[in-house]
Parts: sequence; structure tokens; C-alpha cells
Amino acid sequence: MAKVTYIIEHGEDIVEENGIGTVMEIAQQNQVPGIEGACGGCCSCATCHVRVHPDWIEKTGRATEAEQDLLDLESKACDRSRLSCQIELTEELDGLIVEVAPF
Ligand code: FES
Repeated sequence: MAKVTYIIEHGEDIVEENGIGTVMEIAQQNQVPGIEGACGGCCSCATCHVRVHPDWIEKTGRATEAEQDLLDLESKACDRSRLSCQIELTEELDGLIVEVAPF
């Protein structure tokens, strides 16, 4: 279990202390607005787009090629963009902060 913070519209934070699974799954379980996860996490929809906080991008790593193909279609994607269904919340990522669209 690990902690993850979602920064949503207007700079409001939603903090989940005991997250298990992917960042998308934890968001869905806790009704975090802005993370739909329409494809169920199979990397084919981009409705789980987040921007990783600059302090965390080295630990999460950048988008994979498969993620980037979808993110290229997102007008608000940047070099910190990831598909949250592809980020497993491991102990190493305890404390992770992500920004949720709209940015
Ligand atoms: S849930 Fe569809 S790409 Fe992440």
C-alpha cells in the first residue's frame, strides 16, 4: 500500500493513503474526477491521462511508446504525461503526486 495525491481542477488535492493497484484503478475506486479509464487499463483509450509531478517523473519514468502513441492525440499532453493505468503504485512510488486534466 502506498500514498498517492491527485491534484484536480482548481488545485484541489485528493489524497489516497492506502492505494493498491495502478494509479488509474485507485482513482476509480475513490471517484477521483477526470480519470475515466474507459478501456479498463489496456492502454487503448487515454481517458486516464495524468501529468506526473516534476519531483516524481524520474521514479515513474516517461511514457512508453504505446502510451506515447495515444498521448500524441491529446492536445494537453506534455513530456510529463503518462497513462495512469500504466503506473503501478509500488512502495517505491509511495507519496506520488499526479495532476489530473484539465490542466
Ligand atoms: S484506462 Fe484506457 S488507456 Fe488507461
